[in-house]
Amino acid sequence: MTGESLAARHTRAAYANHWDPYAIDVTADRDAVASLDRRTFTRFRGTLARFGAGEDAVTEDLVPLLSVLDGEDRIYAVTQIYDETRHAAFLERYWREVVTPVERDRGMDATDPTAAHWFSDAYEELFERTHEAMYRLRETTTPVARVRAYTHYHLTVEGILAHTAYYGIERNYGAGTAGLPLLTGLVDGFHWIRQDEGRHVAFGLKQVRRLVESDGVDPWVVAETIGELLVLVLDVLSEMAADAADVDGEQLQALARSTARDRIAQVADGDVTLPASCR
Ligand SMILES: [Fe+2]
Ligand SMILES: [Fe+2]
Repeated sequence: MTGESLAARHTRAAYANHWDPYAIDVTADRDAVASLDRRTFTRFRGTLARFGAGEDAVTEDLVPLLSVLDGEDRIYAVTQIYDETRHAAFLERYWREVVTPVERDRGMDATDPTAAHWFSDAYEELFERTHEAMYRLRETTTPVARVRAYTHYHLTVEGILAHTAYYGIERNYGAGTAGLPLLTGLVDGFHWIRQDEGRHVAFGLKQVRRLVESDGVDPWVVAETIGELLVLVLDVLSEMAADAADVDGEQLQALARSTARDRIAQVADGDVTLPASCR
């Protein structure tokens, strides 16, 4: 449709690409996860717990943005909140229907994916800072405050951390080449989640570009924020590697660094010095 805004196009894509987190078949994953060695099973559960808590956090942290946006942008943001609840629901269900039965079969106590021991200080700090940047919009909605909010949420948590981590999961548990089992249900769910996330990141990038180009926000605000947060992101990704992985923690860190450089370039057109952590 001529003249349709990016937000309106993303809203239509959200309607068209509907998926049901309860319809994905995860039964085969139970046997596959049962074959993981003890250490890999622990790391796998940690990774899933962090994905799940992350989806819960971003669902809530998007709420303050609704009062900052209007028109088509606000309608789009509502679809994004809906997407995030769907991601959280899929991960909650996966834990309940795959992880918990495997723990029971192994004679272990069933664990809680929200228990504090799954989350490192770096993880907690990254999400705490994102929460603060989003809820700051309730006090100030200046262009710089908006850029900081989008840079935390859309560009870094979604656009670097989740982007890299989902890639790692799909490579390690989707290709069947890593010495790790194929997890068809998980990979299917992540396929849909990544499709949603593509819209989310594109929306955030567009908003930041507009604030830089039309409202005169210095792109260094983006680079500096990404540079600070990337230190935490790299720390979180280092915890993700499985022993037999096709893609290990170091490769994920390298990918996160190059994605960070891409995100900065996407809003600054190469006009900004890269922070040390991104080089
Ligand atoms: Fe999500
Ligand atoms: Fe998202």
